[in-house]
Amino acid sequence: MIEVQNITKRYGDFTAIDRVTFTVDKGEVLAFLGPNGAGKTTAMRILTCFMPATEGVARVAGFDCFDQPIEVKRRIGYLPEHPPLYQELTVTEYLTFVGRIKGMGAEDLRSGLDRVMERLALGDVRHRLIANLSRGYQQRVGLAQALLHDPPVLILDEPTLGLDPKQIIEIRELIKSLAGSHTVILSTHILPEATAVCQRVVIINNGRIVAVDSPEGLSARLRQSEKIRVAVKAPPADLANRFRALPGILSVFEPTESGAFLLEYELGQDRRDELARFVVDNGWGLLELKTVSMTLEDVFLRLTQHEEGLE
Ligand SMILES: Nc1ncnc2c1ncn2[C@@H]1O[C@H](COP(=O)(O)OP(=O)(O)O)[C@@H](O)[C@H]1O
Ligand SMILES: [Mg+2]
Repeated sequence: MIEVQNITKRYGDFTAIDRVTFTVDKGEVLAFLGPNGAGKTTAMRILTCFMPATEGVARVAGFDCFDQPIEVKRRIGYLPEHPPLYQELTVTEYLTFVGRIKGMGAEDLRSGLDRVMERLALGDVRHRLIANLSRGYQQRVGLAQALLHDPPVLILDEPTLGLDPKQIIEIRELIKSLAGSHTVILSTHILPEATAVCQRVVIINNGRIVAVDSPEGLSARLRQSEKIRVAVKAPPADLANRFRALPGILSVFEPTESGAFLLEYELGQDRRDELARFVVDNGWGLLELKTVSMTLEDVFLRLTQHEEGLE
């Protein structure tokens, strides 16, 4: 449904995205995952014909984003990072205005309005001014304008940014419900968001793709060890070395300001019980012991340091 081949975008001397290639199948939900400045918004603006690429080809439903922008835009609903909401209009007025710009006929517009009001639960606020809506409702209005003409493809730029946890869950559920019937690309800088909602994740860093994989594949590929954090009340001077002598240990990092040791074990081992007993039996006082999950920072460090082996 979406094909991107060797897209590069330069702003003057600065390369914002560099030879990016990927495809998205019909009905698939794909995440662009990367830190701020990675190039996610730039890639989305090219796909939505908001601006052209410097080099490369992008196609949506077989239409070229540069040569056939009208055909592409007809098939895309776009939620920009900052949705263009008119604060002085009511929800109904705004969505009607958007529908007319999209060239929807009266009949289509009426059924489209009913559909998005229902799907995004906007019925109760349809006559309220957008300026007076909460951030969560404003984001739903933004999504409603993207869905209004029932496009087969949705491009959602950081759709949960600035929402509270309950609103985030609602938006994620909505996106999941679009899978299958719609082809979706969403961007996020939050790893759990990408893995919760998407079937495939494209990790972008400094304008380049560093990995493309399923959430499961990604965590399997990235998790090369089990990590446990241990804080001890009265550690002997040689505690790090005594930890190193334990079975299954790969490495031991000594306490930094957190005051805790970080122990890395071979993958697939759960040594918490054994470790707790080791500390307690020696009478050192166990203050804390927990497994540490991989953070986004860890993911990027791993991926950017081991680029060769990846797609
Ligand atoms: N119009 C522009 N002119 C110059 N640099 C830009 C422009 N838009 C974005 N950039 C730069 O391109 C890089 C990628 O930006 P962006 O695509 O917005 O990243 P993301 O959405 O992943 O945070 C950033 O370093 C940003 O500062
Ligand atoms: Mg962005």
